[in-house]
Amino acid sequence: MTASALLQRLWQDYARLSPQAARIRALFEERGERVVDDHVALRTFDDPRVSIDVVARPFVLAGYRAAAEYTFPEKKLRARHYEPRERGLPLLFVSELRLDACSAELRTVVADLLDGFSARDDVAVAGRPWALRRAQYDLLAAESEYGAWLAAFGYCANHFTVRVNDLGTFAGLAALNDFLKRNGFPLNTAGGEIKGSPDVHLEQSSTLAEPVEVELADGKITVPGVYYEFALRHRLPNGELYLGFVERSADKIFESTDRR
Ligand code: NI
Repeated sequence: MTASALLQRLWQDYARLSPQAARIRALFEERGERVVDDHVALRTFDDPRVSIDVVARPFVLAGYRAAAEYTFPEKKLRARHYEPRERGLPLLFVSELRLDACSAELRTVVADLLDGFSARDDVAVAGRPWALRRAQYDLLAAESEYGAWLAAFGYCANHFTVRVNDLGTFAGLAALNDFLKRNGFPLNTAGGEIKGSPDVHLEQSSTLAEPVEVELADGKITVPGVYYEFALRHRLPNGELYLGFVERSADKIFESTDRR
């Protein structure tokens, strides 16, 4: 699959999960904006069958290359971002839950989910490839909001991100945030509405994930789904636009899918 085809597939599944992203995009377009994606984020476990390497593989085959790594010790996560070969395509940010840092009980649940799973090339867009029971979800949620979200939704975009630099009708990220709130979209306030600053070359904000009903093997639950993010990038001293990520900000952005 080409990178564009992969991204289109991710957007379709994402827009189905989160009507708010498509609504916000439409609101921007009504103002005459042309929306450009900054990055797309995927989540996984660090099991060798589904690790970052496996999830990113179709993108690497389509021309993306690994660029930088990040760690989030408190959330037991690590991440890597990938840059596209083609201009105009978004960055890819893939994170994984470090199972060695989790409890034996959590590892057992993940082992059960992945039982019989064999690595496949299209895992990045595979949806949820396992059946999930309520007790498994609850055990994961008690220890890792990230793990619970991943178990419930599997392989789809956790968020798409708009590159605010390419919007012409907002004075800055604060003005954009005000517009979103005026239109009824609550923002993630963990760490403040705006994470980061020009000093770290990146400012980000995000909506809170909307509740989504998820079908389990033994019933249904309603849990936070996916969210929309907004990134304003600043120039490095050498004049180039900063295209990396900021650990302290991303750490808080992960909380956009926490249960409230
Ligand atoms: Ni992001």
